[in-house]
Amino acid sequence: MFLGMDVGTGGTRAVLVDEKGQLVASASSEHEPFRTPHPGWAEQDPEDWWRAAREAIREVLAAVPGARVDAVGLTGQMHGAVMLDKDGKVLRPSLIWCDQRTQPQCDWLHDQFGGGQIGREKLIELTANPALPNFTLTKLLWVKEHEPEIFARIAHILCPKDYVRYRLAGTYAMDVQEASGTLLLDVAHRRWSKEVAKVAGIPESWLPELYESPEICAKISEETAGLTGLKAGTPVAAGAGDQGAGAVGMGILEPGSVSATIGTSGVVFAATAAPTRDPLGRLHTFCHAVPGRWHVMGVTQAAGLSLRWLRETLAPDQSYDQLTAGAAKIPAGSDGVLWAPYLLGERTPHLDPTATAAFVGITATTTRAHFTRAVLEGVAYSLKDTFTLFSELGIPVKGVRLGGGGARGPLWREIQANIYGYPCERLTAEEGGAFGAALMAGVGAGGWRDLEAACAAGITVAETIQPEPVTFRRYAEGYVGYRRVYAALKGIKG
Ligand code: XUL
Repeated sequence: MFLGMDVGTGGTRAVLVDEKGQLVASASSEHEPFRTPHPGWAEQDPEDWWRAAREAIREVLAAVPGARVDAVGLTGQMHGAVMLDKDGKVLRPSLIWCDQRTQPQCDWLHDQFGGGQIGREKLIELTANPALPNFTLTKLLWVKEHEPEIFARIAHILCPKDYVRYRLAGTYAMDVQEASGTLLLDVAHRRWSKEVAKVAGIPESWLPELYESPEICAKISEETAGLTGLKAGTPVAAGAGDQGAGAVGMGILEPGSVSATIGTSGVVFAATAAPTRDPLGRLHTFCHAVPGRWHVMGVTQAAGLSLRWLRETLAPDQSYDQLTAGAAKIPAGSDGVLWAPYLLGERTPHLDPTATAAFVGITATTTRAHFTRAVLEGVAYSLKDTFTLFSELGIPVKGVRLGGGGARGPLWREIQANIYGYPCERLTAEEGGAFGAALMAGVGAGGWRDLEAACAAGITVAETIQPEPVTFRRYAEGYVGYRRVYAALKGIKG
């Protein structure tokens, strides 16, 4: 069997996948919620990920007595900066992916490369992406500026799942897909960018060894074996960030295949044959977990989070099923109510960490069910923004697979198919990034020839949802309105 592990934001999940690519068992352990000592900040303690990882591994192994684990694969929340001293000790809590404090550091970095659009373009030439507060390097630059005594002690930097690997195996390693989200990678050549590291003042010795995702890069250490129940010497594959591993877990490998996943954040992800750069940097261009391929993706910061926020603030007495049952009775278009989902600022397409969310079009007849439907639609409109960029940049879309919580209920699936305007597939079992990580481990350990073979074994389509022409046209109108909301409200403060 192959063990896949996803060090997420809310918790760590471990799964066991057999040689037929079937999920045999899974277990998870929650993390402490991220801390927000100031608005827009988000920090987690790497030690807590390691505690949760140990618990999830022990539990999943206990679920299948006698399971022989042939390899371990890792995935997790991307971009977080884990800073370690020369002895591998964590120096401060990690600034994680959704921490928004580093716009000044982004501006500084663009200035080093010529400032404004010139600086952005130069950085896009070097790393395929502009500086965004989500990316790891900007977080390191914040620490350099505000906590120089900590910066001076850094000897190693890792992303969250790579820290868990370090604790499992004592190895400093990172895959090229994850590394793409640090802003320190020359994405086109799949190697660290010496130029960016130099300009940013990051010693190359801090950067871990790079691998392709299915490559075996470490072995479970004796010490960890005792703590987790894994055998010492078990191979560990490089793995990928949650988006790369999630795409593998959904079979998004070939150029033209696209997924739309709604978890806490929402992502539209397309596999590409070459590093397709957006000259304005609105899409991320990263190395894919598939060796020799790349991917582009657009990110909605608060996708599933929008629905959670709605429930917590407006309907704590309702289950998600009750909420969506109410929304299903409201006509497409929510009688004119629109939701702009910028609860955590926004990445695609606005790249604006200061954007704020809004309901627009409320009347005296608006009900809670309207708000719910508007949230489901607004999140899908926001993901459609990425499809719009794909067509602007000529990125092919041959088919769309839905993933995450947004694929679980029929209403959100239909809304997505009708808003995107593509037939959308649902998989029989969509097991997320941990499953993809297990497939990568399986390829690394020789269980399958390549990721294509692993996906062919483990993934089946359950259903295709066709857009319905009348509803598609209603949403095409709604999208025109939606596109105006951000610009109209920008800068308004209460
Ligand atoms: C990807 C991203 C999120 C995080 C958290 O760019 O920021 O997917 O990895 O899940």
